[in-house]
Amino acid sequence: MKDFVAQYPVDTNLKPEITAFFDADSNTISYVVKDPSSTACAVIDSVMDIDYAAGRISSDHADKIIAYIEDTGLTLEWLIETHVHADHLSAAPYIQQKLGGKIGIGEQITMVQETFGKIFNEGTEFQRDGSQFDALFKDGDTYQIGNMTAVALHTPGHTPACMTHVVGDAGFVGDTLFMPDGGSARADFPGGDAGELYDSIQKVLALPDETRLFMCHDYGPNGRDIEWETTVAEEKAHNIHVGGGKTKEEFVAFRTQRDAQLAMPRLIIPSLQVNMRAGEMPPADDQGDVFFKVPINKL
Ligand SMILES: [Fe+2]
Repeated sequence: MKDFVAQYPVDTNLKPEITAFFDADSNTISYVVKDPSSTACAVIDSVMDIDYAAGRISSDHADKIIAYIEDTGLTLEWLIETHVHADHLSAAPYIQQKLGGKIGIGEQITMVQETFGKIFNEGTEFQRDGSQFDALFKDGDTYQIGNMTAVALHTPGHTPACMTHVVGDAGFVGDTLFMPDGGSARADFPGGDAGELYDSIQKVLALPDETRLFMCHDYGPNGRDIEWETTVAEEKAHNIHVGGGKTKEEFVAFRTQRDAQLAMPRLIIPSLQVNMRAGEMPPADDQGDVFFKVPINKL
């Protein structure tokens, strides 16, 4: 595994400047990742607010990120989605409209679109080729944020399209890992796989020990304050689901048993319909109105 990761162009001497934006409604952390040697930045996993009970969308969280980028004079080059989130709506197209930048996700998005295109009975007008996104990454692909080279690692298991993005000494793990006392994310969504998740976690943990890891979610287990940053060394030693040398068999048995008890995320139905479209709403009807579908007994 070490050799496998050694082939990626990971440079821990490069230290991007990272600003976190916590969304308390979905417990999501969005990041602005800035190149220290230029004004270039990327936004990772942005959030569009939704009051699902009222069917109302708002942009408070995304507006904070936009204001930060504008106020500090940054140039937005990328809007990265670590995966198709099931617990919040992406604000990528909303931010893109104001600030530019390209929206990127893992190429296995096509599998996710295939699965949920069926579940939501989308017609043939819903393309399942990832064409809603500006860039589709495969394992080991690199891209530039100013003078920084970022690398996308395919880390499936939570979903088939999950990627961990490594920029210098910083890794953005999406839902591949939680903080050490949070463990790992569920692997029971369609296309998820606990064994694959274990292998993906090992891939992340094969990065240099000092690599800073940034979570997509934190729920403050056992009453602690919300946190989102740890290191590979900390996760290896202390992660409650995989740390201290837990075997794949132990992990799969635990994860499978735990996942069977979990309820669906509160916002999974609107989230999937938006996020599989790169953050765009479903197409409006002939009156210009937009609706979500609720598939019965399909999830
Ligand atoms: Fe997720």
